[in-house]
Amino acid sequence: MVHTGVEIRGAGYCYQLRVGSGLLEKIGKYTGKYLHPGTCAIISDTNVAPRFAGLVKRSLTSAGFNPNLITIPAGERSKTLTQAGAICEQMVAAGLDRQSFVIGLGGGVIGDISGFVAAVYHRGIPHVQIPTTLLAMVDSSIGGKTGVNTADGKNLIGAVHQPSLVIDDLDVLKTLPCREFNQGFAEIIKHAIIADEKMFRQLQSWEPGSPRRPVALQRLIRRNIEIKSKIVAKDEFDRTGTRAVLNFGHTIGHAIERAGYYNRFLHGEALSLGIVAACAVSGKKAGLPRREHDAVIGLLQRFALPTRLPKKFPRQKILDALKFDKKFEGGKIRFVVTPQIGSAHVSRNVTTGDIREAIDEL
Ligand SMILES: NC(=O)c1ccc[n+]([C@@H]2O[C@H](COP(=O)([O-])OP(=O)(O)OC[C@H]3O[C@@H](n4cnc5c(N)ncnc54)[C@H](O)[C@@H]3O)[C@@H](O)[C@H]2O)c1
Ligand SMILES: [Zn+2]
Repeated sequence: MVHTGVEIRGAGYCYQLRVGSGLLEKIGKYTGKYLHPGTCAIISDTNVAPRFAGLVKRSLTSAGFNPNLITIPAGERSKTLTQAGAICEQMVAAGLDRQSFVIGLGGGVIGDISGFVAAVYHRGIPHVQIPTTLLAMVDSSIGGKTGVNTADGKNLIGAVHQPSLVIDDLDVLKTLPCREFNQGFAEIIKHAIIADEKMFRQLQSWEPGSPRRPVALQRLIRRNIEIKSKIVAKDEFDRTGTRAVLNFGHTIGHAIERAGYYNRFLHGEALSLGIVAACAVSGKKAGLPRREHDAVIGLLQRFALPTRLPKKFPRQKILDALKFDKKFEGGKIRFVVTPQIGSAHVSRNVTTGDIREAIDEL
């Protein structure tokens, strides 16, 4: 497989992204093209570091870098300000300065926290993203949103800090558990619903259980990066509502994630449920035909993603969790609806009653 480069451009930034196979062993060479040799931190987690950090470290060392590995416990619970502070302390101890940079080697949790650390360390140093989950490749590693959670909600503390380089090595996906792999498709299906009807139809004949088809997967990841980065470039700081369409399914999805104490559902699974609910709201408030709603449910199920809540799941908890959402502006909801597959917009006509109904239907 040939690896391909994509240039991601926005108003004040431009960076390279590579998608392909066997890229980790060349990380030193790629990084050397964009960043000065010196000290850097590789931030990773307890699942990913034992598998891939050695390779990354060796490659960087042979290219003249001085890499320091910082490993944190795997999982969403590590995405805290306390953990970010501890990482910064370790970076100080390792002698990282303003000329240094940070590499995030892991899934979305590592991407978000390492990006946040890069954004604040010495008031901002470069960030290299090496996403190791499908979700992180197609979504969290691009767009520059970084951050940590608080006890009150997800991603409430953060910064927009664009990466300097992103490396998607498809080989790393071979060790990703099936459930983690499938949850990446929730974000892919979201992208299809909001921006690419053709991709939606292609996914309807994708064989999810088959060996991970590298060429098709490479193409799919590239297409998703294109969709997300184009939307981000138009509204980097989420001010005009353009970027907000990427939140499709997330208002209710995040509330479900929270109501499940962040351990009942993976992000992509909660999103899958949020997408189903957002389609129900879209049917009522934006004219989404019922057959399209059903097609979305069918596609999510194809990737073993949940489309119904467990019977006994406390629905009231989801409603309670909604008030922590950043998309509530002055008590009003900024809810993303899709009138037809391939397009989406922010609606201000959605009421809490509509949301309650959609959750009851789940
Ligand atoms: N910044 C953004 O724009 C953005 C967008 C979407 C999601 N996110 C964030 O991303 C996070 C979810 O990301 P995620 O699903 O990648 O979670 P994650 O980082 O927790 O990774 C999932 C699990 O897979 C393990 N893992 C990662 N790569 C592996 C590999 N190659 N082989 C074996 N195991 C591997 C991890 O250790 C972890 O246990 C959430 O915190 C979410 O808020 C951010
Ligand atoms: Zn998401």
